[in-house]
Order: sequence, then structure tokens, then C-alpha cells
Amino acid sequence: MQHDGGTQARGEWRSRVGFVLAAAGSAIGLGNIWRFPGETAENGGAAFLVVYLAAVLLVGLPVMVAELSIGRRTRRNPVGAFLVLKERTPWWLLGGLGVVTGVAILSFYSVVAGWTLRYLFKAISGGLTGVDTAEQATAHFNDAVANGPMNTVMHGLFMIMTVLIVFGGVKKGIELASRIMMPLLLVLLVGLVLFSVSLPGAEAGLKFYLQPDWSQLTPKVIIAAVGQAFFSLSLGMGAMITYGSYLARKENLVSSGVLVAVMDTGIAVLAGLVIFPALAAAGANLETLPKGAGLIFTVLPTIFSSMPMEPWGGIIFGTLFFLLLSVAALTSTISLLEVGVAWAVDELHMSRHKAAILLGLAAFILGIPSALATGGWQVFTQAHWLGMDFMTAMSTVFGTYSLTIGALLICIFVGWVWGVKPALAELRDGCSSEGIMRLWSILVRFVCPLAIAVILAQSMGLLDRLAGLFPG
Ligand code: PHE
Repeated sequence: MQHDGGTQARGEWRSRVGFVLAAAGSAIGLGNIWRFPGETAENGGAAFLVVYLAAVLLVGLPVMVAELSIGRRTRRNPVGAFLVLKERTPWWLLGGLGVVTGVAILSFYSVVAGWTLRYLFKAISGGLTGVDTAEQATAHFNDAVANGPMNTVMHGLFMIMTVLIVFGGVKKGIELASRIMMPLLLVLLVGLVLFSVSLPGAEAGLKFYLQPDWSQLTPKVIIAAVGQAFFSLSLGMGAMITYGSYLARKENLVSSGVLVAVMDTGIAVLAGLVIFPALAAAGANLETLPKGAGLIFTVLPTIFSSMPMEPWGGIIFGTLFFLLLSVAALTSTISLLEVGVAWAVDELHMSRHKAAILLGLAAFILGIPSALATGGWQVFTQAHWLGMDFMTAMSTVFGTYSLTIGALLICIFVGWVWGVKPALAELRDGCSSEGIMRLWSILVRFVCPLAIAVILAQSMGLLDRLAGLFPG
């Protein structure tokens, strides 16, 4: 296995800042601003937030470090990485699961990114002005996404942008996009938070978001929070293995991982501070929140249209917001596609262009049912898909369960199969604190696998069934 020879051809980040920003770019996206508030709303508010924060700290971070160390050690895509570390064992299938999961998540993610693009165009043209109440905004959203062909076109457009950036490879494409846009997004969000919490009636929203009602805590809430932590940190499918494989030897993996997690979690928490107060201010009933994928699209326009200097305040803020959200989504779709592309380039010796086009096409086709689901195609809208509509089913199966199972297996692999010794040796390149590394090895061997396994089993009702076998 050649470390440095391989590096030249595969590319490497320009600097540690470049890597951290790119990894943060992958992590920060629709997951923080669209999926996180949606999941919080659906899972009881503050109680979900608490479990989510615990999940980031206790299982998210250790898995992040585990993935980065596999990536930098092997300098391979996820499939190749497991092949290198454990030859002639089925562990490479775990990398394969990552490639499939990446394409599957990309398929519906790009549809939502397409909605974002449309809202960007609406915001620019003043189409969101005067959408003041929660009902108006909901009607507006339903009307907008009812156009199935338009959803599909926007989904396609977003996929083309993703493929074009992945063409550019690691440095030119991915690093550059993250460098400027992420800090800007942060600044804009802070501004929106200040505005949102100052709206009349915002307190009810803050209460829902920050004051836990523990009676809401169920196995469903816990698995949703853990799944969301993996989704938001881009874990469980090898994205961080892939990004870590482009990372230089001397960098500190632990502190890089912490930095990425802090930024990602910060953005998600801020997004909640924008959405819930504004929701309450717009007169929505927080106990019966609009379910499903539309939450942010039905809340944000009400914020923008209540901004000062009507309509200009709203037009400027709305445009800027949806522009930055589109870019944040793009730096995430890039990483979703990059996992499969790295696999096809390394293992199948395909050209980068061909791999990006083929996998992008696959994700586009798989995303069409999600694009049509809101467009009056009853088959996809109705609860035919594991009791859910098509897009929610995709998000649950791949965005929650597949990532969680992937993360569990990664912990088992690093903790027990590859072994923490070689993993620690890899971490030692750049990390100086033995104490932190000892803590990590305990978390990755015992705490994470146990916690994740119990949560998975509980959420699938396995524990109840087991209890039923031993009555009394
Ligand atoms: N973390 C991204 C987001 O929050 C989504 C993502 C998941 C990207 C998994 C890569 C891998 O938007």
C-alpha cells in the first residue's frame, strides 16, 4: 500500500483550514437548516434537542474521528479502505453500503435543494413579499411544489451543478466553494436569529425549543435524534473516510473533528432559533406543527415579509438566505457524490468525469419519485412506502437507519476488528493528548456500539419483542 505515491494522483487539501472548511461544508447543509428543525418539530421540541446534543458529543464525535483515521490511514475510498485494512473479508461491503446510501440520500436531498433554488428565484423577483401568515406561507409552498415537472427540472439542475463541481476534484471544486460561503452563512443566520426572537409572540417558540417536556421522550424520538446527528455530521456512509483520505499526515484528526462538529451543531442550533420563534410569531400552533418536509419553506417567508423597509428588507435578506442555503446544500451534495466517485475512480479505474456523470444520473433517476411526490402523483404521496410518503421513506431508511447501522459497524470495525491500536497510532500523527485518545478508544469500543445497538433495537421494537419472549 503506497501512501505518498497515491496521494499525488488523488489530490490533497491545500491546508488544514481547507480540509476543515470542506468537511464543515459537507456537514453543514440542508440537514442543519431544513431537516433539523423539521425533526425537532416532529419529535417534541426541546427534548429532541437535548438528546441530539448528547448524541453529537457521545457518538457523533467518536465516529467522526474513527472515519477520519480510516481515511487518512488508507488514503482510499470507503470500499478500498476496508479492503486494505482487512483483506479477503466481507468488510468492504460496509463501504459498498456507504456508496449506495450516498446516492440514495443524494436523490431526495437534491429535490429539496431544487425547492431551495426555486425559493431563491422567488425571493429575487419579490415573489415572497406579502406572505405574512403561516397559512399563507403554507398555501404558497403547497402551490409551489405541486408542479411535479418543475420539481424534476430543478432537481436535475442541482444535480448538474453537483456533477460539474465534482469534475473539478478536491481542491478546485470543493475547497473553494466552502471557503467563502460558510462564514457568510453563519453571519446571516446570527442576524436572522436576532430578528426572529425580537418578533412579537416569539416566546412560545423559544419555550417549545428550549424547555424540555420529558414526557415527549420516546424510542422514536431517540433514534430520530441519533440518526439526525449522523446525518448532520455526514457520518455513517464513509463521507468522512473519503475526505480524510485527502488529508495530510501531520494534521490533528481529533481537533479537526471537534471543530467540524462544533460548527455544524452551532449552525443547526441557530437554525432552530430562527425557525421556532418565527413560527410562534406567525401564529402557528406549536403542538400541531406542519408535519413533513415543508417546515422551513412555510416559515421563512413570513420572517422575510415582516422585515423593515418593506419590501426591500425582505427581498435582500430572502435572496441572500436562499442563495447561501443553496451553496450550503451544494457543498453537501458534492460530498454525497464524491464517495461513489472516489470508489469508481480508485477501484474501477473509471475516469472522474465518467464516474460523476453515471452516479449523478443514477441519483437523478432515483430522485424523480421524490420530485413527483408533492406534484400530485398519488402513489408517491400516499403512505404506500413503509407507511410513509416516498420522500419521507427515503429520508428515514437511508438518512436515519442506514447511516446509524453504518456508524455502528464502523465502531465495531475500528474498535474490535481493525483494532484501536493501529487506529491510535494513526491519531498520534498530529494529536498530542494521550488522555483524549484513551477516552476516544473507550467511547469507540464500548459506549458507541452499545448505545447505538440498543437504540436501533429499541426503535425497531426488537427489545419489546424480546421482553415478550420472557414474560413475567
Ligand atoms: N451532512 C449533510 C447535511 O447536513 C448531509 C450529508 C449526509 C452529507 C451524509 C454527506 C453525507 O446537509
